[in-house]
Amino acid sequence: MKLSVPGVRRIPAIRAIPTISARVALPVGLALAGLLATTAPSATAAPVASPRPAQSAPAAVLAAPDIPLANVKAHLTQLSSIAAANGGNRAHGRPGYLASVNYVKGKLDAAGFTTTVQQFTSSGATGYNLIADWPGGDPNQVIMSGSHLDSVTSGAGMNDNGSGSSAILETALAVSRAQLQPAKHLRFAWWGAEELGLVGSRYYVTNLPTADRAKISGYLNFDMIGSPNPGYFVYDDDPTIEQTFKDYYAGLGVPTEIETEGDGRSDHAPFANVGVPVGGLFSGADYTKTAAQAQKWGGTSGQAFDRCYHSSCDTTANINDTALDRNSDAVAYAVWTLSAATVPPPTGTVFETLTDVTIPDNGAAITSSLNVTGIAGNAPPTLRVGVDIKHTWRGDVVIDLIGPSGTAYRLKNSSGSDSADNVIATYTVNASSEVASGLWRLRVQDVAAQDTGYIDSWRLTF
Ligand code: TRP
Ligand code: ZN
Ligand code: CA
Repeated sequence: MKLSVPGVRRIPAIRAIPTISARVALPVGLALAGLLATTAPSATAAPVASPRPAQSAPAAVLAAPDIPLANVKAHLTQLSSIAAANGGNRAHGRPGYLASVNYVKGKLDAAGFTTTVQQFTSSGATGYNLIADWPGGDPNQVIMSGSHLDSVTSGAGMNDNGSGSSAILETALAVSRAQLQPAKHLRFAWWGAEELGLVGSRYYVTNLPTADRAKISGYLNFDMIGSPNPGYFVYDDDPTIEQTFKDYYAGLGVPTEIETEGDGRSDHAPFANVGVPVGGLFSGADYTKTAAQAQKWGGTSGQAFDRCYHSSCDTTANINDTALDRNSDAVAYAVWTLSAATVPPPTGTVFETLTDVTIPDNGAAITSSLNVTGIAGNAPPTLRVGVDIKHTWRGDVVIDLIGPSGTAYRLKNSSGSDSADNVIATYTVNASSEVASGLWRLRVQDVAAQDTGYIDSWRLTF
């Protein structure tokens, strides 16, 4: 359930280091230890040239929530009950469809979304799209996520497409729980009459003024994301959206493939046709899982990804929990990541202090300060923190970056078994809620007896 990518991650050290014996006279360090334990040597650092190009750095990982699988499945159960109470389906023109719309709408209204029901007519019956806007964000940059809410007449449509509908509903509710204030505007959509040929989504796009189409920065489609014999497919459309999903799955260590089971077969197609950047996830329909795919994803080769596709057996039993869980978390990851503040990438301005600070053995935390001046606005979500600590057992060392606000960002935990020397590393911190200019501190504590060391230098790259 948990996306195991921390907000801070470590990248390899970038420069060679002198040995400890070449640099420090230990008796002096020990004599000063008590004095230095609580003081913060103030280095008035001037910007120095960037040691390496900014574009070689990894992107910041922003904190998206873990979407609770149980909540997603609770929505599926509700949709299943709705089908059961309405002749076994949730199809366009049947009462189970409107009941599905009302279930989803009720949750969204209670969570603070602005909802709109858009009516259209298809095959002589009234159809409904449900649109939900999260107040705020740049109205000229909309990140839209959609799933079709209708089923075929032959069944309840749990994988197709209770899965996508429930995942985006729970993601929308997570936006509300977080009271997210994304830079871009968030919109969610539940489409009607997809099974009649993308009718609802096409109606929406056709009736959206041209100026409003241009405001949709991305449309993300989720149709069949809990297939019982799942594959992990990413749509091959907009490169940024595609890469966002691939990054998520790379973080899980789960391989993905490009979706090939029909490019125009779901609600992203009307958006793509008018030039909106699109992407999405898919766990497979009636195509057969190959031996190679079963090898990497598990499941059964020679069998369809969803043997109950468009059948009466597309019930709540027709869901692979792992696939639904991963894909639901991926929805949230993409929504969070793609709507986040568009903060300029690091300019490469480096502030550095070379002042040594002794780290007392198994003692109090010490800090080293760095005064940052002349950087406008907030710190980047990709603030680089370069640390050069000489130590004879680095597992003893806990390191935090303290922002001007006083907030601590954990860079490194202790790890008793890590007996290697020195911490020479560059960490990436999402420091976007900190004003860049001000006093930053590196806080270091040695938490185990015997080995010790000192801060040799550290730097921030803006
Ligand atoms: N609801 C779609 C359909 O019935 C399911 C589907 C099939 C699909 N192939 C796809 C969805 C490819 C996304 C991508 O056609
Ligand atoms: Zn379908
Ligand atoms: Ca120690």
